[in-house]
Amino acid sequence: MKFSLVSLFALVASASALDTSAPLMREEIINKVNSAQSTWVAGVSPRFVNATVANVQVLLGAVLSHEPASTHFDLGPREGHTYGLTAVPDSFDSTTDFPGCEDLIGHVRDQSSCGSCWAFGSTEAFNDRRCVAYGDKQWYAAEDTLACCSGIRCGLSMGCNGGQPTSAWAWFASTGVTSGGDYDVEKGSTCNPYPFEACAHHVDSDTYPDCPSDEYSTPKCTKECIDGDFKTAYADDKVKAKSSFTIRNEADMMEEISTNGPITAAFTVYEDFPTYTSGVYQHTTGKSLGGHAIEIVGYGEEDGTKYWKVKNSWNDSWGDGGYFKILRGSNECGIEGTVSAGLV
Ligand SMILES: *[C@@H]1O[C@H](CO)[C@@H](O)[C@H](O)[C@H]1NC(C)=O
Ligand SMILES: *[C@@H]1O[C@H](CO)[C@@H](O)[C@H](O)[C@H]1NC(C)=O
Repeated sequence: MKFSLVSLFALVASASALDTSAPLMREEIINKVNSAQSTWVAGVSPRFVNATVANVQVLLGAVLSHEPASTHFDLGPREGHTYGLTAVPDSFDSTTDFPGCEDLIGHVRDQSSCGSCWAFGSTEAFNDRRCVAYGDKQWYAAEDTLACCSGIRCGLSMGCNGGQPTSAWAWFASTGVTSGGDYDVEKGSTCNPYPFEACAHHVDSDTYPDCPSDEYSTPKCTKECIDGDFKTAYADDKVKAKSSFTIRNEADMMEEISTNGPITAAFTVYEDFPTYTSGVYQHTTGKSLGGHAIEIVGYGEEDGTKYWKVKNSWNDSWGDGGYFKILRGSNECGIEGTVSAGLV
């Protein structure tokens, strides 16, 4: 597990208690979850069938707000807007409720073996908000964010070793992001396709190539399009956000989502989380594995339980078609504590 320098100390302190070479999909965890509560169902995820705890920790690259204040990048409130003046629907799903954007918002990406969740959770929300605002169907590049949003301006984000999703939003506003998208986008169609192919650990199947034994190293920020067949120059391909801000509570999050589209958030992943298959997740058993950034696309209520609908970047073969629901309104696993977005 690698994220900020400061959280490395916390990691060292807790490492003794966690067996990182253990299989991630353990029967004892699955059975405990399924007998302990009734809001969500655990099972063996095909995405992680033979993975170890360490394999998933590589993916958890987000700095959370409850970590020491000095490391967290706070954007301040949305300027010129007062929340709560308009009625907000009781339930909303960006993947179906923004006509014309279903395919784009509904698409699940795959961060492969790199702690780039912070670049995905932020770039995808930017991408989806562009569709909501302008009907823009362009794919934007998590790769550009991953490689080029670094240093002080980006909250000391460190590429595949982790970063700050909130700082990425500030970077969209100041610098902009290029076109991009998945690993296998058609040649010549975008500036920065994702450089790492979807992969799996210790499986025999032909569906996935093997992941590298450690993790991929951060791509270099060359300020040139990776795809040499793409005709627009890197600088000309950049698209900027108009603003970036932090969102502080459940009601404001709901208003943002139902009005302007998905938002970026982060939460603590515990050992039971990777076994999620359906229902409304709440931490039930297992130790903390690290901070993970994602995109919240909707909210609602299921059998009396309030939830956020969240899009992950672990392929659509993980979870519920690549998505999960998590308890809403009680800052479950810190999900309401590190929330950001911007106007695009
Ligand atoms: C998801 O995994 C499959 C392999 O099962 C792969 O073909 C596909 O490209 C992956 N999706 C993304 C967005 O990378
Ligand atoms: C998981 O690993 C075991 C032992 O190496 C192997 O027999 C099994 O086929 C693997 N599962 C998949 C889906 O490849």
